Amino acid sequence: MKTLLETIDLRKTYRVGKIGVEALRGVSLRIREGELAAIMGPSGCGKSTLMHVLGAMTKASSGTVLINGRDIAGMNDPELTAIRRDKIGFVFQKFNLLPTLTARGNIDIARHIKGSGVKNGNDDHRAEIIKLLMIEDKMARRPFELSGGEQQRVAIARAVANKPAILLADEPTGSLDSRNSEIVLNMFQELNRRFKQTIILVTHNPELVTYTDRLIEMRDGVIVSDNDPIPWDPESELVQPSLTIGPAAHR
Ligand SMILES: Nc1ncnc2c1ncn2[C@@H]1O[C@H](COP(=O)(O)OP(=O)(O)O)[C@@H](O)[C@H]1O
Ligand SMILES: [Mg+2]
Repeated sequence: MKTLLETIDLRKTYRVGKIGVEALRGVSLRIREGELAAIMGPSGCGKSTLMHVLGAMTKASSGTVLINGRDIAGMNDPELTAIRRDKIGFVFQKFNLLPTLTARGNIDIARHIKGSGVKNGNDDHRAEIIKLLMIEDKMARRPFELSGGEQQRVAIARAVANKPAILLADEPTGSLDSRNSEIVLNMFQELNRRFKQTIILVTHNPELVTYTDRLIEMRDGVIVSDNDPIPWDPESELVQPSLTIGPAAHR
């Protein structure tokens, strides 16, 4: 499997007056195409900061973020805007839907921002997504006419409508009851299985782990465990790539 996202020794320090808060203290991570990975850890350990840096919404203080092998640290604002628009889908704890628009309007917003016309190859994909998320009959409703679970499903549809390379979800079930959490988590799993959507989910809900293959645990700004099914051995990759056998050959 191809590496889609890679971070090398990522650090982020927030300045609060004269104090520096070290939210990330050296995070190195590889996410491959088609992976569904969960990031877990206690509140304040740096999960959201990592997601914002991965989503090109916040700049790291140091370190590297490669998306499809391109370093986003060196990009200017228009390039970062293009990355956010074309490569990244984001789902938040608060659904962040526009209150005056219908569900359909909220989903279409992503397409308008991208500037694609009404007829394009993404239309079928969009229809399939809406069906998979079981919100077909909710399209004419505005957010206040939808339950929390339905609003989050609309937000997910908006995030994946343009086929982003990566879907980042920061505590997407944090505002949902357990039944709706389960529905939404099942849908992430379906998106991953059916469309091979690469997904990184952040949670502090241990139940989420049963929905993902890969679990990355964070504490105090660092990764403390990662059950990466294909551990990264840069030496074997660099020195003898043609002799690599077994799972490493799929990288
Ligand atoms: N904008 C900010 N300014 C200052 N400190 C921040 C800011 N955002 C987060 N932090 C601090 O960085 C640390 C990590 O926060 P965060 O990434 O939100 O953690 P998590 O999502 O795991 O709860 C915390 O100590 C938090 O208080
Ligand atoms: Mg957070």
